Amino acid sequence: MDVEKIISQMTVEEKIKLVVGVGLPGMFGNEPSIVPGAAGETHPIERLNVPATVHADGPAGLRINPERPNEEKKYHATAFPIASMLASTWNREILFEVGKAMGNETKEYGVDFLLAPAINIHRNPLCGRNFEYYSEDPVLTGELASCFVEGVQSEGVGTSLKHFAANNQETNRMFIDTIVSERALREIYLKGFEIVVKNAKPWTVMSAYNKLNGKYCSQNKWLLTKVLREEWGFEGFVMSDWFAGDNPVEQIKAGNDLIMPGKTYNVFKNRRDEIEELKEAYEKGEITDEILNERVRTILNVLVKTPSFKGYKYSNNPDFEKHAEVSYKAASEGIVLLKNENVLPFTKVAKVAIFGTGQIETVKGGFGSGDTHPRYTINIFDGFKEKGVKVDENLGEFYREKVRELRNGQYKPAYVNEFNLKIPPKLPEDILAEKTIDEASEKNDLAIIVISRISGEFVDRKAVKGDFYLSDDERKLIEDISRKFREKGKKVIVLLNIGGPIEIASWIDLVDGLLLVWQPGQEAGRVVADVCMGNVNPSGKLPTTFPKDYKDIPSKSFPGAPKENPTEVIYEEDIYVGYRYYDTFQVEPLFEFGYGLSYTNFEYKDLSISKNGENIEVSFEIKNIGKVEGKEIAQVYVKAPKGKIDKPYHELKGFYKTKLLKPNESERVSLLIKLKDLTSFCKNKWILEEGDYYIRVGASSRDIRLEGKIYLEEKEFEI
Ligand code: BGC
Repeated sequence: MDVEKIISQMTVEEKIKLVVGVGLPGMFGNEPSIVPGAAGETHPIERLNVPATVHADGPAGLRINPERPNEEKKYHATAFPIASMLASTWNREILFEVGKAMGNETKEYGVDFLLAPAINIHRNPLCGRNFEYYSEDPVLTGELASCFVEGVQSEGVGTSLKHFAANNQETNRMFIDTIVSERALREIYLKGFEIVVKNAKPWTVMSAYNKLNGKYCSQNKWLLTKVLREEWGFEGFVMSDWFAGDNPVEQIKAGNDLIMPGKTYNVFKNRRDEIEELKEAYEKGEITDEILNERVRTILNVLVKTPSFKGYKYSNNPDFEKHAEVSYKAASEGIVLLKNENVLPFTKVAKVAIFGTGQIETVKGGFGSGDTHPRYTINIFDGFKEKGVKVDENLGEFYREKVRELRNGQYKPAYVNEFNLKIPPKLPEDILAEKTIDEASEKNDLAIIVISRISGEFVDRKAVKGDFYLSDDERKLIEDISRKFREKGKKVIVLLNIGGPIEIASWIDLVDGLLLVWQPGQEAGRVVADVCMGNVNPSGKLPTTFPKDYKDIPSKSFPGAPKENPTEVIYEEDIYVGYRYYDTFQVEPLFEFGYGLSYTNFEYKDLSISKNGENIEVSFEIKNIGKVEGKEIAQVYVKAPKGKIDKPYHELKGFYKTKLLKPNESERVSLLIKLKDLTSFCKNKWILEEGDYYIRVGASSRDIRLEGKIYLEEKEFEI
C-alpha cells in the first residue's frame, strides 16, 4: 500500500480525523466498538480504503468483553500472570512465548494493537499498578519487555510500549508533575524504554498522563521527538494515554501522533472537541501541512501493517488449550520460593489444611485496564484437589460456603469488576472457631495459609493494615495456626497471592515456608500445587526488593506534595532506586533484588573476564550440586570505579537463566556487556570513567559467588 499516495489524496479534514481517535467506544454516548470491550479505534477513511483499527489492553492478556448482546458465544481471553511475575521468570523465551500467545489472541479477535507492555519502574512498592509493570531495574525490564514485544509482533499485530515516561504512581496521575533529574531519567526511568525501542521496534509508544519536569508527557517535545525519535530512532507512532494532557495542538506539535481515545469533551466538560481545536490551529497556521503530514505519515506507515488493513479474516477462536499451557508455564517459572525450613516440597501423602479466603477467591491479577476475562480461574483449593493433594476438604468447603455467604451469594471465583472504583471489601479472616483450627491441626500434617491482595488502576496502595501490613485478623490467623501446628511438631507454609511487596519481617518467624505465588493468572491453583509438591522446582527470582518495613524505602516523597492533594512529586532519591539504594546506603532489605530459592543448590565457578572490542565478555560455569533438577538465574552486577560521578554500589548488567539442569549437570555461561552500558550519564554524554570495574556474578544482588575485575580506560559516548 502506497502511503504517499494515500496522503496525497486525503483532505485536511481527513488528516485531522486520522490523528484523533473515535472516542471511548460504547461509552459516553459513543458507538460500540467493532470489538466490544476494546479501548479505542482510529477513524476509517472509507473512500481511500483506510479501515478503522482496533486497540485493546493489556499486559496480562487481551481485555475485551467476554459477552456480547444477543449472542450465546463467549469471547474470553487467556489470563496470563501479571507482568511482575513474568519478570520474576527472568526467562527471555517465556516472555516471547507469552507475547506470541497474547498477540495471537489479539489477532484472532480482530484487534490490531495490544496496549502492552507497561514498563514503568517500580519506584515505590505502593504504586497501584506496579503489578502491570516489570521491575525496579531498567535492564531486567528492558530485556524482558523486548522479548514480549517481539512475541506479540511476530503475530502481525502491534504493541504499545507504555506509559512513556516516569508514570510511577496512580495518585493524581492525570496532572501530577514528576520532577526528576536528567541523569535519573536517562539511567533509570527512560532506560527500559530505550532498550525496547532499540531492540524490538514496538509499533507504537503510549505517552503517559503525568507531567515530566513541568510539561505533560503527551505535550513534551523533548521526550517524544528529541529523545524518542532523534536519539533512539523510533519509527512507529506515539499515541496518548486515554484523555491525557490538556492541549491537543501542543500534543500534535510535540510529536504525539495520535490523540486517544478522542472526544475528550464527552468526559471532561471543560474541554473542547480535539478535531475542532486542531482545525482552528491549522487554519491559523499553528499546525502546518508539514507537521500534519508527518503525523499522518507516521500513523499510516504502521496502520498498513495491521490485520485490519490487510483484510485479515479473524477466527474469533483462539487456541485456548495451547495458550493455557503457555500461561501455566510462565507462572511455573515466576513463583519465588522465599523461605524453606525443610517443609517444601511436601510429599503426596501429606494431609494438608488450607486456611484463608484467598484459597477460594484466589486473585489472578489486578483490576483496571490490566484486567482480563478468562474462561476460568483455578483457585488454590480446587487446584490442589485437582493435582491430588490430600487437602482437608471439609475445611476448604467451609471456606467456599463462607466466601459465598460473605459475598451475599454473589460468589465468583475471583474479583470481577475491571474498573472497580469500589474495590470489593477485603473478606474477614477471623471466621474460624478455635476448635476448627485445633481439629485441623490434629487431623492434618501441615498448614497452608493464603494471604491475598489486589490493587489496580486509579488508586495507589497504602502503608496500612490490610494492605502493606497484615490486617489484625490475618495476623491472628497466622499466629493461631502457627502455635497449634507447631505445638504438634507440624509445619506452616504461607502462600503470598499478591501483586507487590507487603510487610513480612514481623511474622516470618511464625512460618516454615514462604512462597510468593504473585497473581498468577488463570492457572493459579494448578501451578501452585505443582510447585508445592515438587512437580515443578521453583526458579523465579525477585524483580523488586522486599523491604523490611515501609519506612526503609527510598522514595520518601511518594506520592507527592502537598500531602492532601499532590500536584508535584520530586524524585529526590535520584538514581538510587530499589537495590541501588539499599546496597549503596546499607539498608538491609528482607529479601533483596534477584533473590529466590530452589529445591536444589547451584555452584558457580571458573569466572573469566576479557575485553573484546567494545564489549566485555564474562563467562563462568554453573553446576547443579543438589539432588533434584532445577534452573538457576545467574546475575552479573558491575561496580564502577569511584571517579567524578557518584556511583551506586553495583548495578545489574546482564543475566542468564540456565536450562533445566539435572543433578551434577553444568552449563557454561557466556555474556557480553557493552562498554557503553557501563557508563554514567553526565552533562549530555555517557561517560566511562577510568579504573577497575568489579564484575560480580551472583545468585542475587547480595549473594555474590564470583568476583573479578578489569581495568578500563576513560571513554565518552555520544547520546
Ligand atoms: C490506562 C492505559 C490503558 C488505557 C486504555 C488508561 O486509563 O492508563 O494503560 O491502555 O486506559 O484502556
